Amino acid sequence: MWCSQCHPDLVLPSLRESLQNLQMDYVDLYLVHWPVAAKPGKPQFPIKREDIMPMDLTGVWRAMEECHRLGLARMIGVSNFTTTKLQELLAIAEIPPAVNQVEMNPIWQQKKLIEFCKDKGIHVTAYSPLGGRSMSNAVLQSEVLEEISKARGKSVAQISLWWIYEQGASMVVKSLKWERLKENMEIFNWELSDEDRFKISQIPQHKRVRVAGMFSPEGASRVDLAVLDIVEM
Ligand SMILES: NC(=O)c1ccc[n+]([C@@H]2O[C@H](COP(=O)([O-])OP(=O)(O)OC[C@H]3O[C@@H](n4cnc5c(N)ncnc54)[C@H](OP(=O)(O)O)[C@@H]3O)[C@@H](O)[C@H]2O)c1
Repeated sequence: MWCSQCHPDLVLPSLRESLQNLQMDYVDLYLVHWPVAAKPGKPQFPIKREDIMPMDLTGVWRAMEECHRLGLARMIGVSNFTTTKLQELLAIAEIPPAVNQVEMNPIWQQKKLIEFCKDKGIHVTAYSPLGGRSMSNAVLQSEVLEEISKARGKSVAQISLWWIYEQGASMVVKSLKWERLKENMEIFNWELSDEDRFKISQIPQHKRVRVAGMFSPEGASRVDLAVLDIVEM
């Protein structure tokens, strides 16, 4: 559910519209995309800076719970929620979020968030598990992963995906190439050594997706984010 639908009275109509587009009776999982609301209207990316609004978390989550009760979403969850935002949500939720989908890969390992979610029974799904589409990709160009890849006879992508799987997370990995889709699914017949795991744990950490990058024209300032009570993960 995009930010412009993140209003208590728009959650259910937004899901019904998606179901109609998909020609389905229900979805397995419905996610709040970001802990941010935007002025109601057609979904747009990036969001106009002047359209950003604080989100009514309780109202929105009650509406998400209604989607579940009506059988339109088998599970409900969130995306891009920090531990602080999850704590806020857990304090008011009658049905806790099943999933938190966040940026996660060997270059942005999310150790604290993973521990928190494990403790609270929230499943983590990794997005951009290969570092996403960008000119310089810190995951696919990682020297540490490259070295492990050569030693194990697996591609760097497979090393990254298997590492995510080992953390107990699932992943949404994307490719427009048939052979890569196949490669990305063939990760289950081998393992990393303890030495490999240690090397990966020492990789310097960089986050790619920034909250401020969601806003146009010049991105949100620190002041905007503080006013909205949004913090980077
Ligand atoms: N919830 C959120 O806020 C959020 C944010 C970002 C993304 N997502 C979702 O996460 C999913 C994936 O994220 P993403 O596209 O950012 O990142 P990704 O899956 O980490 O990276 C996709 C890029 O990796 C390349 N690739 C795929 N498999 C490869 C392989 N085996 N070897 C080398 N390159 C490979 C793809 O190129 P080719 O197509 O040329 O193979 C593409 O450029 C998407 O479904 C997206 O919608 C969610």
